[in-house]
Amino acid sequence: MTEVQLVDVEKRYGSFVALQKQSLTIQQGEFLVLLGPSGCGKTTTMRMIAGLEEVTSGKILIANELVNDKPPKDRDIAMVFQNYGLYPHMGVAQNIEYPLKLRGMDKATRNKRVLEIAIKVELESLLKRRPSQLSGGQRQRVALARAIVRTPKIFLMDEPLSNLDAKLRVTMRAELKHLHHELGVTTVYVTHDQMEAMTLASRIAVMREGRIVQLDTPKNIYSKPDNLFVAGFIGSPSMNLIEGDVRSGFFRATAVKIPVQFQDATSVVLGVRPEDLKIVSKNSAPITASVYAIELTGESTLVTMKHEATSICVRESADYEARINDVCHIAARTTGKLHLFDKSTGQRISTCSVKPTKC
Ligand SMILES: Nc1ncnc2c1ncn2[C@@H]1O[C@H](COP(=O)(O)OP(=O)(O)O)[C@@H](O)[C@H]1O
Ligand SMILES: [Mg+2]
Repeated sequence: MTEVQLVDVEKRYGSFVALQKQSLTIQQGEFLVLLGPSGCGKTTTMRMIAGLEEVTSGKILIANELVNDKPPKDRDIAMVFQNYGLYPHMGVAQNIEYPLKLRGMDKATRNKRVLEIAIKVELESLLKRRPSQLSGGQRQRVALARAIVRTPKIFLMDEPLSNLDAKLRVTMRAELKHLHHELGVTTVYVTHDQMEAMTLASRIAVMREGRIVQLDTPKNIYSKPDNLFVAGFIGSPSMNLIEGDVRSGFFRATAVKIPVQFQDATSVVLGVRPEDLKIVSKNSAPITASVYAIELTGESTLVTMKHEATSICVRESADYEARINDVCHIAARTTGKLHLFDKSTGQRISTCSVKPTKC
């Protein structure tokens, strides 16, 4: 069953095109994340679904009904805005309670529900405060609580965790995931944080300059990026991207010669994630470079190596040790993946497993 459909939806502000004739179908119960850098059109897309922004052309359907002219209050959505949108003259409890009051729920049930939700978002000690007496993170949690206090047809969430500190963001992420599992409400979630997108989404729509450049499951977005933009955007640290040519079964660039199962091609970009590389002792290895930086992340060590203009990051085990300027040899892990992209179009041309014999 389809919950939200965008059909050739375009949004212009004067001559500026914020969303370029895009189509997108969001299934009932899906957790769809719109992911992309600042200014790519995420909030605009979400506000059009909410009815807060008119579409310039195209159709928006909710539960198969055309809603282009339907006001926000009739769309049965609950929204968390990027700028909170709290009622300043009301206390925290009243803010959270408001959607229930609007729908005529009795006072005792409302109070019980508000307390339940406040505990979920760790606000129970602040219920009497006004929004002006709260930190940004606390306000964000009030906005989130107000959205999840009832069960609408659709949740629309615009960067709802961006102002929380790192630890609380991880806790709230798990809360949201659990809540979605519990309620099964169709959710459209906007973020520029790829980790949030990867952990929360059923599917991710990666956006760039008013277009969706890939729509897929987090797993496929990570393991089969359609283009250089997605390859570089997803993953931390991001995928190593090396420009070169394929000749006689090898990808070749300065100080790089990696066996690949691909026909000869010029002007390609090889993509390989840090965890798909390893540092080896033999100097016949595909890549030679010197250590530029070593960073221990806790569970692993990130080793950045440089050779002339080429910079390559390798994820090694936590106990890996080397010194800056040591010359090292890098090979692809046999369990890893190599991605080839066309340099001029940026599109993926192949994803191949590493040949076990040569590396
Ligand atoms: N009311 C507006 N008038 C003119 N331009 C706008 C307006 N709202 C958004 N934009 C522009 O549209 C683009 C997309 O904005 P937005 O959807 O807010 O991006 P995102 O949420 O991905 O950061 C941006 O370049 C922004 O400057
Ligand atoms: Mg935005």
